[in-house]
Amino acid sequence: MVSAFSDEVTQAAQALARGELIGLPTETVYGLAGDALNPKAAAAIFSAKGRPADHPLIVHLGDASQVTVFARAVPVAAEKLMTAFWPGPLTLILPRREGVADAAAGGHATVALRCPSHPVAQQLLQAAHRLGVQGVAAPSANLYGRVSPTTAAHVRQAFPSLRVLDGGACTVGIESTIVDCSQDIPMLLRPGMLTLAELSHVCSVPLSLPRASHTPAPAAPGNKASHYAPRAKLRVMSVQEMVSRLPSLLKLALWTRQTIETPEGVIQLTMPSDAAACAHDLFARLHELDAWGVQEIWVETPPMGQQWDGVRDRLQRASA
Ligand code: TXA
Ligand code: MG
Repeated sequence: MVSAFSDEVTQAAQALARGELIGLPTETVYGLAGDALNPKAAAAIFSAKGRPADHPLIVHLGDASQVTVFARAVPVAAEKLMTAFWPGPLTLILPRREGVADAAAGGHATVALRCPSHPVAQQLLQAAHRLGVQGVAAPSANLYGRVSPTTAAHVRQAFPSLRVLDGGACTVGIESTIVDCSQDIPMLLRPGMLTLAELSHVCSVPLSLPRASHTPAPAAPGNKASHYAPRAKLRVMSVQEMVSRLPSLLKLALWTRQTIETPEGVIQLTMPSDAAACAHDLFARLHELDAWGVQEIWVETPPMGQQWDGVRDRLQRASA
């Protein structure tokens, strides 16, 4: 029988079925992927990233019909969100079926599920499913605490010996929006490119937000105050503040919407004024500026408004 999948996809699916890890392109960021039901694969993901084993992984599915393999119940809000946004950049936290994907879920009573829209991710998930892989656990393919990868080259930098499926530059550029549907009222745990207003509209109830003092259980890396950090020191400030502080530093890069007068040697890159374009560029810029060896990166404070929540969140953590 002739396979519907390319050789790369078929071989990557076979690697997953053997319990190996691969680099997986998705529309948000690249993932470090392994069979979600294979405890050894999950352990290998935690150890490769240097991530504590109780920080749960997101399980990726080819389509919504596979949700009940992992989830014990699917609340109405989750149904509505899946219908509206899957496949796409949305992760749902649901009550976990007992004994299923314990290692990937870090032993927590809930499981994070997401159906990515990237065509290569879709092909891989379908090919792997035919080989008996029912879900693919994948955190972002970066070392713990570092900048997430949005190209295959970023993944190869972090994991030189990993088999990486190249799906081009990620179109979204920041991680999926995470909504916890395991409680009575759905809660926005991680902002992404879907706005609070859109999500609330689809659920027909206003989503709640974690209180500032409240670390959502389970404590998870994307929720740590400091995350996504480049090697350079990152600061977020207004253009006025930049102008007043400028001359003091040598290897400095600015990422601003407006161009400002700078001393020679200061790198100035244009920050898109559209939130989606800015999310798309964000991690790629941080990787690029780190590769240039700048000491500091000054980023202009993003505009207000919900479309910017995801970008603002990543910048806050990267500068923490
Ligand atoms: O866009 C994405 O979501 C990317 C791509 C590869 O799909 N993946 C990703 O995974 O960002 P990672 O491991 O870097 O972030 C996963 C986040 C954790 O930080 C945590 O906040 C949340 O998922 N998470 C996973 N399981 C959870 C659970 N049971 N309860 C609450 N949060 C959970
Ligand atoms: Mg991550």
